Amino acid sequence: MRHARAKEKGTRRTIFMVSFVPTLIVVIFLISWRPLLLPYFFRYAKWVITEVINDKQRVLENELQFALKEWRLYELESRFGQEWCKENVRQRSDVTWLTQVVNDEFVVPTLVLGHSIRTFSCQKNMIAFIAESVSLGARKSLQSVGWETRLVEEMDCDWLDSKLGGDRNRGFFGRPRGYRIRGTHTRFHALNYTQFSKILYVDADYMLMSNIDELFDIPNDFAAATCSRPGVLDPCFNAGLLVFRPDTTDYYGIMKLWFETTKKDTCPNDQVLLWHYYAADGNWRALPYTYNIRRIVFRPMKSFHFACCRPPKPWSARCRPSRKEAGDFKGPILAVDDMVFIFWKNFYNILKKYGLEDWWRSTKFFRPEQEFGVVPYADCWKQEPRVTS
Ligand SMILES: *[C@@H]1O[C@H](CO)[C@@H](O)[C@H](O)[C@H]1NC(C)=O
Repeated sequence: MRHARAKEKGTRRTIFMVSFVPTLIVVIFLISWRPLLLPYFFRYAKWVITEVINDKQRVLENELQFALKEWRLYELESRFGQEWCKENVRQRSDVTWLTQVVNDEFVVPTLVLGHSIRTFSCQKNMIAFIAESVSLGARKSLQSVGWETRLVEEMDCDWLDSKLGGDRNRGFFGRPRGYRIRGTHTRFHALNYTQFSKILYVDADYMLMSNIDELFDIPNDFAAATCSRPGVLDPCFNAGLLVFRPDTTDYYGIMKLWFETTKKDTCPNDQVLLWHYYAADGNWRALPYTYNIRRIVFRPMKSFHFACCRPPKPWSARCRPSRKEAGDFKGPILAVDDMVFIFWKNFYNILKKYGLEDWWRSTKFFRPEQEFGVVPYADCWKQEPRVTS
């Protein structure tokens, strides 16, 4: 027993001698040979640990740098983009921008869209399909920012229902009356506009943040941006941006598909129809998500589409920033709500630039108490909803 304990003690002493003594020798050697090395080593180790702990902060700082750079580019392109176009790009008569306006409420975003095209695009053809219900004053304001307004027959599921007789809202794709978006299929008219080699269709609630004219040059007959950002699986496209080559055969083909699907089952929306006509057979090009960003801040931001819910569509939302608050917005874009400030800043500028102030004040959309008020935008959302027109 005593013998075993003594042996254990001896083993410990050996380990101590083997590990500690050489370490001590090395330390003494280092201190005498390179006296600065050791304190330097400890300071360096502290830095490594600090960097590991702060890594998230460093990523955020880098993102902020991206946002600042993007904002600077946005401002430079807004200011000098047209000069660059004049020097570098030939204007084409065989391509056009296209949108559709279903009622006066959508004239507001269409003005912002039109102005963003005028600011960033080198191509000048801009056609807006308008419904009969769009007022004369609204049409004139659209024309003043550069839209060529064309009155065309509005097409949607209700239109087809009345053509075919009866309400065809049953089945898998069905949507009850009143829940359908109006005039959704009207853009199909443009498939027959064969005087153009390419049409770039965008929804009225779409807004350019940079030049995207490269889309006029893609060789495919049909292209649209994927539904979601890279890394998120959602196999579909969003029809808010479409690039297509008009073709009479395709025009009649898609109308036929629409009529037949509706007769057999129920009326599919335009996005579903386009998917089945082009994409189901692989006859389309998937564009990067950056061309049709919705609901999130995503970089690079080539455009922003005020679709659906976040941020709420600025023109119909309960709150809007005052002219002063919108004018004071100086970037960068860090939250999706910042897009609302950009929207209104552009809109208020358009009123001035194109002399639309009188028209705007005569519409029911003008809200003097908010536009010239002092309640900050963020606080407006905290207040109880009031009934506004
Ligand atoms: C489509 O275009 C063709 C050829 O230009 C024309 O004959 C036809 O009437 C057009 N159809 C419709 C429905 O506009």
